[in-house]
Amino acid sequence: MVVGGGIWRRVLVVFVVCAAGMEMGAADPNDEQCLTHLSASLEDPMRNLQNWTRDRFANPCQGFTSYLQGATCNNGRIYKLSLNNLSLRGSISPFLSNCTNLQALDLSSNALSGPIPPELQFLVNLAVLNLSDNALSGSIPQQLALCAYLNVIDLHDNQLSGLIPPQLGLLVRLSVFDVSNNRLSGPIPASLGNRSGNLRQFNASSYEGNKDLYGYPLPYKKNNGLSILAIVGIGLGSGFLSLVLSFTAVCMWLRATEQKMAAEEGKIGHLMPDY
Ligand SMILES: *[C@@H]1O[C@H](CO)[C@@H](O)[C@H](O)[C@H]1NC(C)=O
Ligand SMILES: *[C@@H]1O[C@H](CO)[C@@H](O)[C@H](O)[C@H]1NC(C)=O
Ligand SMILES: *[C@@H]1O[C@H](CO)[C@@H](O)[C@H](O)[C@H]1NC(C)=O
Ligand SMILES: *[C@@H]1O[C@H](CO)[C@@H](O)[C@H](O)[C@H]1NC(C)=O
Repeated sequence: MVVGGGIWRRVLVVFVVCAAGMEMGAADPNDEQCLTHLSASLEDPMRNLQNWTRDRFANPCQGFTSYLQGATCNNGRIYKLSLNNLSLRGSISPFLSNCTNLQALDLSSNALSGPIPPELQFLVNLAVLNLSDNALSGSIPQQLALCAYLNVIDLHDNQLSGLIPPQLGLLVRLSVFDVSNNRLSGPIPASLGNRSGNLRQFNASSYEGNKDLYGYPLPYKKNNGLSILAIVGIGLGSGFLSLVLSFTAVCMWLRATEQKMAAEEGKIGHLMPDY
C-alpha cells in the first residue's frame, strides 16, 4: 500500500512536471535570442511595438497565442513575424536565424537599412520573405537558395545592388519573385528570367526599375541607349558622306560641263573661218 502510493505519487509528480514543461517549456531559448537581438537591431521611433518588452521575449508564445505584436505562434514556437508598415528603422539582425521555426517573415513597408543577413539561410522552414519597400542595401545573398521551401521572395523598392544570384533559380517552389525598383545590375540569370518546365515564370514587372539590369524578360532597352547613339552617329555620318558625295558630283559635273564647253568652243573656233 505504502509502496504503491509512493509510485503513484512519483508518477503524478512526473506528470505534473511534464505538463508544466509543456506549458513553460514553450519558452524556446532560440526564439528568445532571436527576439532579443531583433528588438535591439530595430529602431521604433513611433513606439509602435509597445509590448515588445524584454521580459516577454523569454516566453513569447503560450501554445498558439503570442504576447508580442506581429508574432504568430505554432505549438510554442514563433512561426510568423509580421512587422510591416510600423515606421521601423535600423537593421535586420542576423540572429533572426535563431527563430528556426519561422515560416513567414514580413518586414515590408518600413525604413529598414543595411544588408539582408546571409544568416537567413538557417531559416530552413521559411516560405515567405517579404522585405519590400525599405532602404535595404548590399547584395541579395545567394545563400537564400538554401531555404528550400521559399515560395515568396519580395524585395521590391529597396537599394539592393550587385548581381541577382543565379542560385535563386534553384528554388523550385518559388511562385513570387519581385526585385523591381532596386539598383541591381548585370544580366538576369536564365535560371530566373527564362524558367522552364513546371517552374513559375516571372515577367518583366519582377525586374523593372533597375537601371543596369538587362536581359530577358526585360524589354531590349539596355542596348537601345547604345543604338540611339549609333543611329545618331550613322545619321550624321551618312549626312556628311552624302554632302561630300553630292559636292563631288556637282564639281565633276561642273568640270565636265566646262570641258565640254571648252571643247565646243574649240570646235567652234576650229570651224570659224579664219579671215
Ligand atoms: C500587444 O500589442 C498589440 C497591438 O498593439 C495588441 O493587439 C495586443 O493585444 C498586445 N498584447 C499584449 C499581450 O499586450
Ligand atoms: C509584401 O508586402 C507588401 C507591402 O506590405 C505588399 O504590398 C505585398 O503584396 C507583399 N508581397 C507579397 C508577395 O505578398
Ligand atoms: C529560353 O530557354 C529556351 C530553352 O530552355 C531557349 O530555347 C530560349 O532561347 C531561351 N530564351 C531566351 C530569351 O533566352
Ligand atoms: C506579370 O506578373 C504579375 C505577377 O504575377 C501579374 O500581376 C501581371 O499581370 C503580369 N503582367 C503581365 C504584363 O503579364
